[in-house]
Amino acid sequence: MKKEIIFKLNDEMVSVTVDSDELLLDVLRDKFGLKSPKRSCGRGECGACSVLLNGKSVRSCIIFAVEVAGQEIITFEGLQKEGMTDLQKSFLEHNSFQCGFCTSGVTITATEFLQKNPKPTVKEIKEALAGNLCRCTGYSSIVDAIYDYTKKKGE
Ligand code: FES
Ligand code: FES
Repeated sequence: MKKEIIFKLNDEMVSVTVDSDELLLDVLRDKFGLKSPKRSCGRGECGACSVLLNGKSVRSCIIFAVEVAGQEIITFEGLQKEGMTDLQKSFLEHNSFQCGFCTSGVTITATEFLQKNPKPTVKEIKEALAGNLCRCTGYSSIVDAIYDYTKKKGE
């Protein structure tokens, strides 16, 4: 069954017609051309498809698009509407990616986490990112980038 939904996407109200069993991940990628949420495990386990739903990091591969009607979604693209953020610059400075497949999901998770805990310890950062898998195993440089970002922000 098809249904029209209206929601806020990266600061703009949008409407789209979706099937009742269509996944948010597919709608974002195929109907809005937003390619930052990636399909990997497809089971909510790797974090590659993460987006912010009302400010909370969620896995878009296990959410039906109809569920976000009337809600707010922010993707990695939405985070950098005004240009690269300081957090993203820190990732660049620390070479925190190899293939980059996990980067948008990690950034979404980190964004939510840092809003709740702007001055985390390294251990807390590692715990926050435990659900985001990096197949290139670049974890230490990712953690370094986030920690360094929080230190500079606190100066
Ligand atoms: S693709 Fe969604 S959590 Fe892995
Ligand atoms: S940089 Fe390749 S999966 Fe993380």
